[in-house]
Amino acid sequence: MTTLYTGISSLVTNNPELEAGLLGELERAAFIEQDGQIVWVGSANDAPEADTEVNLDGKSVIPGFVDSHAHLVFAGDRSQEFEARLSGIEYSAAGIMTTVNATRQATDEELDENIATRAIEMYRSGITTFETKSGYGLSVEDELRSLKLAVQHTEDVTFMGAHVVPEEFKNDKAAYVSLVKGEMLEACAPYSRWIDVFCDEGAFDYDESKAILEAGIAQGLLPRIHANQLAQGRGVELAVELGCASADHCTHLSAKDIELLALSNTVATLLPGAEFSTRAEYPDAKRLWDSGVTVALATDCNPGSSYTTSMPFCIAVAVRDMHFTPEQALWSATMGGAKALQREDVGMLAVGKSADFVILDAPSFRHIAYRPGVDLIQETVISGTSIYRSNK
Ligand code: NIG
Ligand code: FE
Repeated sequence: MTTLYTGISSLVTNNPELEAGLLGELERAAFIEQDGQIVWVGSANDAPEADTEVNLDGKSVIPGFVDSHAHLVFAGDRSQEFEARLSGIEYSAAGIMTTVNATRQATDEELDENIATRAIEMYRSGITTFETKSGYGLSVEDELRSLKLAVQHTEDVTFMGAHVVPEEFKNDKAAYVSLVKGEMLEACAPYSRWIDVFCDEGAFDYDESKAILEAGIAQGLLPRIHANQLAQGRGVELAVELGCASADHCTHLSAKDIELLALSNTVATLLPGAEFSTRAEYPDAKRLWDSGVTVALATDCNPGSSYTTSMPFCIAVAVRDMHFTPEQALWSATMGGAKALQREDVGMLAVGKSADFVILDAPSFRHIAYRPGVDLIQETVISGTSIYRSNK
């Protein structure tokens, strides 16, 4: 069964073969979906016949957003911490324990329901692929159950036992590091594709992070890292050294860090929601793009530093405050995310790719940043199946 989508004012394909700018943008375009995949893309005038036709009447279409960084397995809320922060108290990694305590007390059903609720919010914001991490369990049992729940919602699941050192190990960090790279990793690896470490002030240092990531790699996990969020440490350096798919946050970068990223295959994933919600200074994406670094944008959805599931919000902030162009921001939230997750099947609307796309109630993607806070998501489609349709 083939479905032709036509009458598209602006179609972002992200296909470099079209030689139509960074986004491979086509005007007055059409495409055909069959069995969940894209089978034809081109000008509406040249479109072949299909079994069904959907005329989008001048709306625009973009690839579904790929959210490569989220922490959806948690319970509780930290709105009081947020409020205190905005009246002057600085964000620190210590707040993570509040969520760890709430998560440990929650039932599996409560945690599962929370993941599902956030996932639905993501679909409503145009996200069609998302990653999620453990990291609010911090015991073998609670990390394991976090991951067992997460795998039911996404294939990009990340073991993050090294989020912070939990209270019960506060006088013996070395013992916690041994637990994470030993018994905890062994239990969690079968349920994870990725391993992540918070390599930053108040969390894990370069040597600890390296030991944990290397143990994960030895178990067949792919490395990614929370780097340089709170301080200009050695996280990015480690990410490049270990060939991490992505170094995430990158709030504080030295010229050397940028040079290392530019010469590597490591994606720099920027998380505007985190700077927004912690009132931190935004990194300058222009420096990264100008140096040839591959950049992704993600929500970092978590109850502490970035409680948003809205990729359009992240794009608007990225354009306004991080100096992305609207084109760069859209690319980073789609192809950039796919690269950060090493996914070949998503992020692009081209023949053979998954038919994951978003119909925008706007003439082009430019309206996402131009109309901040306005819900422009008309419909979200994953593998050819509509999973959210606005009833506006
Ligand atoms: O990505 N930076 C570390 N982890 C999360 C925040 C976790 C929290 O505050 O609960 C982040 O921002
Ligand atoms: Fe994070």
